[in-house]
Amino acid sequence: MPQDASVELHILTPDNAKEYFALLDRNRAFFAKFNKLPADKYPDVESVARALAEPGKKRWGIYRFGLLVGMVSIKPWEKDANAGEIGYVLDEHASGEGVTTDAVKQLVMLSAKEYSAFVAEADPRNATNIRVLEKSGFTAGGPNEAGEPVYYLSLR
Ligand SMILES: CC(C)(COP(=O)(O)OP(=O)(O)OC[C@H]1O[C@@H](n2cnc3c(N)ncnc32)[C@H](O)[C@@H]1OP(=O)(O)O)[C@@H](O)C(=O)NCCC(=O)NCCS
Repeated sequence: MPQDASVELHILTPDNAKEYFALLDRNRAFFAKFNKLPADKYPDVESVARALAEPGKKRWGIYRFGLLVGMVSIKPWEKDANAGEIGYVLDEHASGEGVTTDAVKQLVMLSAKEYSAFVAEADPRNATNIRVLEKSGFTAGGPNEAGEPVYYLSLR
């Protein structure tokens, strides 16, 4: 159940491809700053629908006032399947209001039966992203093969 009535998570399926494509497409320049969406990825609604149909990675839409403003995802971490690797993106115009932090906290609660720990790889230049992780209870560890910190949250 959502903690904050203004931020709700709903699983994204291929039926959401049109609205999710619109979110990605209008934020291409913003997401490209941190290599979150290469220019040639998801060129059309069909490519988004295919991605949403793939097994393994679960994507939740972040809805605010009924509108899709972002996405949080989780998949088994390749180094330890008991840990869920999370990722997220948020519409530039919805940023700075705690929406992603709220969504990450909800995602952890929703996934607590499936995973005992959570990880997130963070580009050290992305201070906003790191702040979201810290506010959500993650602490820095790592680094990964690329020399970047990996953030961890353990529930046990
Ligand atoms: C990173 C991103 C998800 C943040 O979403 P958001 O909803 O704005 O984040 P929140 O409002 O929950 O928290 C942002 C925090 O960062 C802080 N912050 C913002 N800009 C900052 C900066 N340049 N340096 C340090 N902290 C910064 C805010 O003050 C806030 O912290 P506070 O509550 O202590 O004041 C969003 O900007 C985004 O989608 N970026 C592009 C894609 C991306 O980087 N994804 C993450 C990789 S997985």
